[in-house]
Amino acid sequence: MNQQPAKITAAITAVGGYVPEDKLTNADLEKMVDTTDEWIRTRTGVSERRILKGEGLATSDMVAPVIKQLCEKRGISTDEIDCVIVATVTPDMVFPATANIACDKAGVKNAWSFDIGAACSGFLFALTTGASLIESGRYKKVMVVGADKMSAIVDYTDRTTCILFGDAAAGVLLEPNHDGFGVLDSLLRADGSGRPYLHMKAGGSLKPASIETVTNKEHFAYQEGQSVFKFAVKGMADVSAELLERNNMTGDDIAWLVPHQANKRIIDATANRIGLSHDKVMMNIERYGNTTAATIPLCLWEYRKQINKGDYLVLAAFGGGFTWGATLVKWEY
Ligand code: UT7
Repeated sequence: MNQQPAKITAAITAVGGYVPEDKLTNADLEKMVDTTDEWIRTRTGVSERRILKGEGLATSDMVAPVIKQLCEKRGISTDEIDCVIVATVTPDMVFPATANIACDKAGVKNAWSFDIGAACSGFLFALTTGASLIESGRYKKVMVVGADKMSAIVDYTDRTTCILFGDAAAGVLLEPNHDGFGVLDSLLRADGSGRPYLHMKAGGSLKPASIETVTNKEHFAYQEGQSVFKFAVKGMADVSAELLERNNMTGDDIAWLVPHQANKRIIDATANRIGLSHDKVMMNIERYGNTTAATIPLCLWEYRKQINKGDYLVLAAFGGGFTWGATLVKWEY
């Protein structure tokens, strides 16, 4: 009798993270803009964020240590990596890709690498892409890193955005699995008509950098918070619920919700919608703020010891684009 070969899934076999040392606290921000620690904590859940300081340091300088850490944890050499995907909206430069630069800095010689830009959903888009490479059977070791140096595009005179964001990088190693562990399903969405609410006005081909764009502060992240908030609450909760439904699962089957860390109130709404108690929700927004593409793997990195083999996780995000989505993972190690 012919036996069907077992389906290949992309298992997460290592998790790594990097946060810069310098902290920017709510007390610091109180001295910079008209805000209070109380307002920031109650409206967002953030108390402090990390900032990458230092001449010549960029997003790739946070990605390279993550790549090295993943190799060390898994006990592999950088030569064994097939592909590195970096999700970011704060690349070192428009081109080449930050993934190319980070590979150079980490000594990765045999891999191809590229960036994915899907803002706060970037890690999920990159994870799904990386998982597809593994599932194809052609690649054995794919690294997916979410990284953003948001401090490079934040206007520290704008109290509506500067309180939210921080810098960090974190990522995972994906490898083939034949026992049904790893990335099991993804429900990803994008709607470019959401761009007026969250974008950077200049610096792209639409409006190249000029003296006017700099004077008008158009190289900073622009956000209409309330509008994004409404879309985010609905978008993240809807896809998470639909993902569970199409996998015949309920909140009871899920060990952890791993949500994008944009606002504690959005996270609470998503958890409530899929019926998860708060002790099953990963949360570190208080210490890092919104690190855009890095938030989800940063949670995995910090909670690693509390995740058990066989646990089902729902990873969920919403961000600029608009982009949003949810991914179902069965933990492998
Ligand atoms: O990660 C990508 C996706 N992004 C998101 O998911 C973010 C979604 N949005 C949000 O999280 C929230 O909308 C914010 C945290 C950005 C803002 O919270 P909000 O509860 O929506 O506040 P708001 O924009 O409605 O502002 C309420 C008031 C306003 O004053 P008035 O008009 O009522 O007098 C603001 O000017 O709060 C004022 N305000 C502040 N006050 C003190 C805005 N920022 C601050 C501040 N400190 N930092």
